Amino acid sequence: MLKIEHLTKAYAKSNVKAVDDLNLELKSGEIFGFLGPNGAGKTTTIKMLTGILGYDTGSISICGHDLKSESTKAKRNIGYVSDSHVIYDKLTGKEYVEFMADIYGVDVATRKERADKLLEKFELRDAYGSQIRTYSHGMKQKISIIGALIHSPDLWVLDEPMTGLDPQSAFQLKELMREHCADGKTVFFSTHVLEVAEKLCDRIGIIVKGKLITVGNLEEIKAAQGDSSLEEIFLSVAGGSGEHA
Ligand SMILES: Nc1ncnc2c1ncn2[C@@H]1O[C@H](COP(=O)(O)OP(=O)(O)OP(=O)(O)O)[C@@H](O)[C@H]1O
Ligand SMILES: [Mg+2]
Repeated sequence: MLKIEHLTKAYAKSNVKAVDDLNLELKSGEIFGFLGPNGAGKTTTIKMLTGILGYDTGSISICGHDLKSESTKAKRNIGYVSDSHVIYDKLTGKEYVEFMADIYGVDVATRKERADKLLEKFELRDAYGSQIRTYSHGMKQKISIIGALIHSPDLWVLDEPMTGLDPQSAFQLKELMREHCADGKTVFFSTHVLEVAEKLCDRIGIIVKGKLITVGNLEEIKAAQGDSSLEEIFLSVAGGSGEHA
């Protein structure tokens, strides 16, 4: 359902590749965890596969649609939760969710049903009518999640979604990710929380200096990397500092 082939990107005025010949295929119904040290290329990859950032070479296909040649068809299948939520500050939570529902053509009854369920789950009902700029970090994260799920996307992409969430909300989010996959849909998320990756993901990929070093389920990764814990494997492949020089 997601196919990334030979994806490469260097930022302007940079002589290092932020993402370097990345190949990855995700199936329907799986939760994929994207790990890697700071500056490894996770956000860059995520921004490319959500169509926010262009790429130099390679291809991305979502639900059989090429992201460059069939951009709108490919993007319709994506729900995206970014790692920063500063864009829609002046809208109320409700206006933002309605805006997202309008963009994706979600009918009124369905959007209400989905929003109600999520507002309840995240205990965000009281703040729904307030401007997003008055929200805490965690509340912004939650409204962004509701906006991303309002069209029940086949591919749900989240960049470090656990950051700033209280334990209860983090639990709810993990439940939502599981439910999403149980419906035959796919979740792709980056995280620094190895425990979450370990418990939640069907498969994990570790990116270091733009290159996907290892990918597979936990058992496969452990077998390939010498049967230690995910933390030991991470520290060993990340090699002290993963940041580009
Ligand atoms: N807008 C930009 N302009 C130039 N270089 C950038 C830009 N954004 C990221 N980079 C560089 O690209 C590389 C990958 O960064 P990226 O943000 O994708 O890493 P990341 O894996 O998401 O890291 P983190 O865990 O800190 O979020 C880094 O070397 C970074 O300095
Ligand atoms: Mg990042």
